[in-house]
Amino acid sequence: MGFPTQRPRRVRGNAMLRTLVRETSLEAGDLVYPMFVVPGRGVERPIASMPGISQLSIDRAVAEAREVLSLGIAGVILFGIPSRKDALGSEAYDPSGVIPRAVQAIRESVPGLLVITDVCLCEYTDHGHCGVVEGGEVDNDRTLELLAREAVCHARAGAHVVAPSDMMDGRVKAIRQALDAEGFATLPILAYAAKYASGFYGPFREAAESAPRFGDRRGYQMDPGNGEEALREVALDLEEGADIVMVKPAMPYLDVLRRVRERFPGVPLAAYNVSGEYAMLKAAAERGWIDGERVTLEILTSIRRAGADFILTYSAKDAARLLGAARA
Ligand code: PBG
Repeated sequence: MGFPTQRPRRVRGNAMLRTLVRETSLEAGDLVYPMFVVPGRGVERPIASMPGISQLSIDRAVAEAREVLSLGIAGVILFGIPSRKDALGSEAYDPSGVIPRAVQAIRESVPGLLVITDVCLCEYTDHGHCGVVEGGEVDNDRTLELLAREAVCHARAGAHVVAPSDMMDGRVKAIRQALDAEGFATLPILAYAAKYASGFYGPFREAAESAPRFGDRRGYQMDPGNGEEALREVALDLEEGADIVMVKPAMPYLDVLRRVRERFPGVPLAAYNVSGEYAMLKAAAERGWIDGERVTLEILTSIRRAGADFILTYSAKDAARLLGAARA
């Protein structure tokens, strides 16, 4: 029974019908906005490769967080740039460091906004790697204790969720145990479970001043050629106590996102639409080569359609405005 009985175009004829039969929804409440917090006051330093995104001091970050909440966006994820970097990334677990103070300030001034913290050492180490470097290599097991301290430090400051992005083996377990021991048994872990060694992080490393001084991250982040391995990484993180798992980057790894969704139904799943994806979109839109607004929503819809429950994205504010305008 095909044509002319079957005419798929019948339900595409007007916007109301298209909306009614649309399989995938996209709302501001599905989005998390990343922010880069720096020491000082009144600082707003634009990041050249990420139009619209700036490094912000805490006072400015609070103002931006207020705007994010008013747009209906679910929450923020905070990255810190310390005043001083050293070999062990000490400011990452200093209670008076930039992130604990930012968390406190945002929690106090912007109730109702979810505050997630990125747990990693690369922004805080002078060598720019995500852990303790020993003989030119990142020492997995020595790094675990520092990550656990960082997570507890963020929890004490009031983080709603901690998100380890380092890709050390066993870090979810180490963080879970430390949180439980310190009275944070109910605080969720969002694990960057399948995080690839990606060229798409370039602009982020400018924003977070976290490019490795030597070598690269291929010894701990995943090889772009692997898909099955992502399922193993996700399974391990869940066993260790991850509450939400994430695939990163998003667009070039939509197949991975879909496979994780199918293999682990019911597990909360996030995707990180990373800095390089945002930079490509903005660059092409600035030149008039694509319709930036339309493509912004199309990208985020594709990530939701692939299986993500929610998306970390630099486009969160743009998308929330577009979605709000479409409704009005
Ligand atoms: C820290 C971290 C990175 C990103 C998130 N957390 C950079 C990296 O691994 O080099 C990248 C996010 C982005 O590109 O937007 N380890």
